[in-house]
This record gives sequence, C-alpha cells and structure tokens, in this order.
Amino acid sequence: MQGDLERVLFDEPTILRRLDEIAVQISRDYHDRDLTVIAVLNGSLVFMADLMRRMTLPLRLDCLSVTSYHGKAQTSGEVIFNQVASPDVKDRHVLILDDILDSGHTLAAIREKLETAGPRSIRICVLLRKKKRCTREVDADYLGFEIEDEFVVGYGLDYEGRYRNLPCIGVLRKELIESDE
Ligand code: IMP
Ligand code: MG
Repeated sequence: MQGDLERVLFDEPTILRRLDEIAVQISRDYHDRDLTVIAVLNGSLVFMADLMRRMTLPLRLDCLSVTSYHGKAQTSGEVIFNQVASPDVKDRHVLILDDILDSGHTLAAIREKLETAGPRSIRICVLLRKKKRCTREVDADYLGFEIEDEFVVGYGLDYEGRYRNLPCIGVLRKELIESDE
C-alpha cells in the first residue's frame, strides 16, 4: 500500500500531535456547552476516533453517511444521504467532522440539511483542506492541515474504497488514478 504513494505528506506522529492541539482548542471552546459531534462516514472514521479520545468534554456522537464521490478522484457534484433518519440535533451545539474539504459541496449540503432540524449552533472541523483558487461553499472552523490540490489517501481517506487503513496521509501515484477524460 505504502508503495502506491508518490510521497508521504503527514506521518502518524505528526497527525496525532496536530490532533492534540485541535482537541485542546475544541475542548476550550465548548467547555460550557453540550456538544454533539457528527462524524461524516466513512472518511472521518479514523480521524474521529483519534480526535474524540483527546477531547476532555462530555459529548454525544452521531454519524451521517453520504456519497459524493462514487469512488472516483473527481466529485460528481451530487450529495446522496445514505442514512434515512438524520441525527437529532434540535437545540444542540453541533460539530461536524469530516476528512477533507475540497469544493465544500459535501459539507455545504450536510450543514444545510442539519440546519433544518434547528440546532443551536453548527461548526465544522476537517482534518485536511485543499488550497484552491475558487471560492468554497463552506469553510472549516477547525482545521488539521492545509494541502495542495492533489489527491491524497490514508488515515481514513480512500481511493475507490482502498487505502483507508494506511496510518499516514500521502499523495497517491498519478498513474494509479483512473482518468475520467
Ligand atoms: P467536496 O464536496 O468537494 O468538498 O469533497 C469532499 C469529499 O470528497 C471528502 O469527504 C472526500 O470523501 C472526498 N475527497 C476530496 N478530495 C479527496 C482526496 O484528495 N482524497 C480522498 N478523498 C477526497
Ligand atoms: Mg468523505
């Protein structure tokens, strides 16, 4: 698996050190609030598990499952909610966790859907954000790392369902990515 990477961007100790910092920040910001974490499956699973255990707050956890990529390295522009019932977020302070903010299309759709359920507040936490020229539909309140506009895998992020269990985050070798053109 590691051999399929062009290069490693963040190894496991680097990721965990950054999570320590984000967890302190979140724990401080929500110390007097009742927090509900909503993890976006499947990409945020590894991130969520490591981050949550570093947060020193009582919290609730819910998950949402969406499909926005259909396994390819390009966004389809369509966000499908796989889970029928939305988590109960009425009057709650919600923190959405996702793996990566690319166009922001996915998180914008999720936030819009959760907003209809009347939460007290909604913030977004992502492990990675891609640097892009174009304006994003949403932005992150908490961010792990900013990366160039390259396709990355590992630490929960996949390409066609694979590489999620790589402990590090790296750039996938270009020749392994199927072109849509
Ligand atoms: P957005 O809607 O364009 O922001 O895309 C967000 C979703 O696309 C993420 O939750 C990922 O599942 C997927 N995605 C975007 N970029 C990458 C990448 O570089 N590697 C793996 N998945 C990605
Ligand atoms: Mg995802």
